[in-house]
Amino acid sequence: MPVVFVPKRHREGETRVAATPDSVARLVKLGLSVVVEPGAGVASNFLDEHYAAAGAVIGEGAGDWRTADVVLVPDPLGAHPELGVLEAEALKEGAVVMGLLDPLGQVDTMGILQRRGITALALELLPRISRAQSMDALSSQANIGGYKAALIAAEKLDRYMPLLMTAAGTVKPSRVVIMGAGVAGLQALATCRRLGAVVEVSDIRPEVKEQVESLGGRFIDLPDMQADSEGGYAKAVTPEFLKKQQAIVAERVKQADAVITTAQVPGRKAPLLVTEEMVASMRPGAVIVDMAVGSGGNCALSKAGETVLVHGVSIIGEANLPATMPRDASTLYASNLVHVLTHITDEGAIDFDVEDEILMGLMGTYKGKVVNKRLADAMSRAGGAA
Ligand code: NAI
Repeated sequence: MPVVFVPKRHREGETRVAATPDSVARLVKLGLSVVVEPGAGVASNFLDEHYAAAGAVIGEGAGDWRTADVVLVPDPLGAHPELGVLEAEALKEGAVVMGLLDPLGQVDTMGILQRRGITALALELLPRISRAQSMDALSSQANIGGYKAALIAAEKLDRYMPLLMTAAGTVKPSRVVIMGAGVAGLQALATCRRLGAVVEVSDIRPEVKEQVESLGGRFIDLPDMQADSEGGYAKAVTPEFLKKQQAIVAERVKQADAVITTAQVPGRKAPLLVTEEMVASMRPGAVIVDMAVGSGGNCALSKAGETVLVHGVSIIGEANLPATMPRDASTLYASNLVHVLTHITDEGAIDFDVEDEILMGLMGTYKGKVVNKRLADAMSRAGGAA
């Protein structure tokens, strides 16, 4: 029976865990044996006794990294403080590791996994097709990120979000501009609308206009928008297009109380949409929440993990918003992983069907090879093995 290990995470600010008591019960039903590191779920408020009651074995400690057949993590692999080695080196040769591994950003780690014959299932590489929706961890986490970005903007603002008629006078609703209408942007839009703001949204994919409008947002039309996208993701635009977009959006940003940026093209540096000049044009007290800060930022002035105040504007660069809501973030993420494991488990055995579109999409490395084209390209760009 394959042993699935759920380790405690050590990355600063990481509070999520890759399995919950509920997901453990579902994994046990699949015929898997689950070992949870003591305290693995504490930061998400899941206690060892809850896991044990759900059928998990509470392990001895970090040593299970070296013996497990499958390791589930919510975040990229790093150095292990107790084992004294990189987690990628601690894994048993031929083991499987599954998580949001940031494969295109952590190509060195992927190189180690490749060399050691480890199968890396990187949830970022999952094809965005309807059959795989239940496994889509980027979406479950971005949804939380978009929701929290809206709440943070509302909390930081020096004024109401909704229109209010009071005895002292009428308060106009806040104006919010959202860049990027993917999963995070649409959830930020929905949340800001629930709070009563007037919301304008910019995206380069014309097909999202209808979704924006159905959530009560105003879509900012751009000339010559690209009509095609790749698997639900945007393709990169030219620098000339980006300049035109900046000029159109600049007028809206100038009048905004809050800007939430979520624009991304997978595998690339985030597009620069809010320049320093645009920040300077905003009123003091305005707020920018830059969700893309982890991939370089959509705002020229944002800093990962920091809130900076420039020209009186607060620019918030929280890189791990899902970790600020760990219970639901872990619950939804763990459920995504159960769906992946259900997909690849047959009568208690892990079965890799190399003809399967979902599995081949997800797989970064397999049996010493880099099997994902996007990862192979990223590794060769970085000069690594592929
Ligand atoms: P997504 O791929 O679903 O959406 C991104 C959107 O940006 C797409 O609709 C795309 O068309 C649009 N876009 C691309 N270039 C653009 C441009 N020049 N102008 C306007 N829109 C443009 O991605 P998702 O899942 O919504 O994530 C969005 C961003 O948020 C990513 O950078 C992701 O890494 C980040 N994120 C950050 C979190 C945090 O804690 N800070 C948590 C989760 C996601």
